[in-house]
Amino acid sequence: MKALIDILAKEHRLSKADYLLLLTHHQDEDLSSYLFEKARQTANHLFGHQIYTRGLIEFTNYCKQDCYYCGIRRSNTEAARYRLTLEDILSCTEIGYHLGFRTFVLQGGEDGHFQDDTICDILTAIKSQHPNCAITLSIGEKSRLSYERFFKAGADRYLLRHETANLAHYSQLHPASQSLEQRKQCLYDLKAIGYQVGTGFMVGSPYQTFDTLCEDLLFIQDFKPHMVGIGPFIPHQATPFKDHSAGTLSLTLFLIGLLRLILPNGLIPATTALGTIDPQGREKGILAGANVVMPNLSPVGVRKKYSLYNNKICTGEEAAECWACLNNRLKQIGYSLAVNRGDFSPL
Ligand code: 5AD
Ligand code: FES
Repeated sequence: MKALIDILAKEHRLSKADYLLLLTHHQDEDLSSYLFEKARQTANHLFGHQIYTRGLIEFTNYCKQDCYYCGIRRSNTEAARYRLTLEDILSCTEIGYHLGFRTFVLQGGEDGHFQDDTICDILTAIKSQHPNCAITLSIGEKSRLSYERFFKAGADRYLLRHETANLAHYSQLHPASQSLEQRKQCLYDLKAIGYQVGTGFMVGSPYQTFDTLCEDLLFIQDFKPHMVGIGPFIPHQATPFKDHSAGTLSLTLFLIGLLRLILPNGLIPATTALGTIDPQGREKGILAGANVVMPNLSPVGVRKKYSLYNNKICTGEEAAECWACLNNRLKQIGYSLAVNRGDFSPL
């Protein structure tokens, strides 16, 4: 089994059967420590002990989509909806810049209120305020033309998780109006336009199997995204999946390790969801090969409202506390936050 990890570390790809074998042994501690060591060596070699940081600004929780897992889905009438104004957003980036953030992630539901022109105005305003910062958009499925407009207006990166690469599984997670084909088309468009593109999936989402996870890994090794975000599925009480169980720490960490070997120079975050299921989740993610953290820069007053899942961390603190808190946490495992854009760089 360790031989497979050695091959993955050299060739950055495996067959489905090999991934399946590895995944079925993810709880074998001898194997997982071997994987984490290789993954960590790979990350340390390329990034040193510096962790890239992105300031997350959740600017709207209105969403026209109805994904069964998500707390801000359209059908959740219990959600308290909000939108940030341009001024709100610029005050987040201003605070963030002074803390050391050089990348801002504008994340939101698919909110028709924010037309392309409005998004472009936001991008232009942030770029003129801080020309040396990168902007990542994470606002779901749009037309190629819209993606081109955003790119021209200053968006550098785009996050759009594929959620699952298995067709049947995709339709178990989403209503019939959404398709995997459409999702992948968006990812291909984004890459063709020139964005640094991130995809990813939840670990332990309902109806996921080792088999569907292998398909996720095959999709990723072929698509070669610049970033991959994964985190455990965490049930939200006001969704159809409220009674399903959460994804596990051990499987999430194992997958982070595999992803690091598939994409040696990839940008792989230790996600908020990982920090939510385990108090040391993000540190463990970094020790398994992750190299990015994405603390919350949204105004404290709206943080609880951007509730994709239950018990999300960092809902009450000031932005400044998040930077300091994370930096201290990282120091304890021998890492620190980098003050730079943290762009993808080719091998
Ligand atoms: N648990 C964990 N992650 C979730 N996401 C949405 N809902 C949940 C949940 N209940 C993830 C999705 C989405 C990203 C923004 O958050 O993968 O792409
Ligand atoms: Fe937000 Fe620690 S990262 S308080």
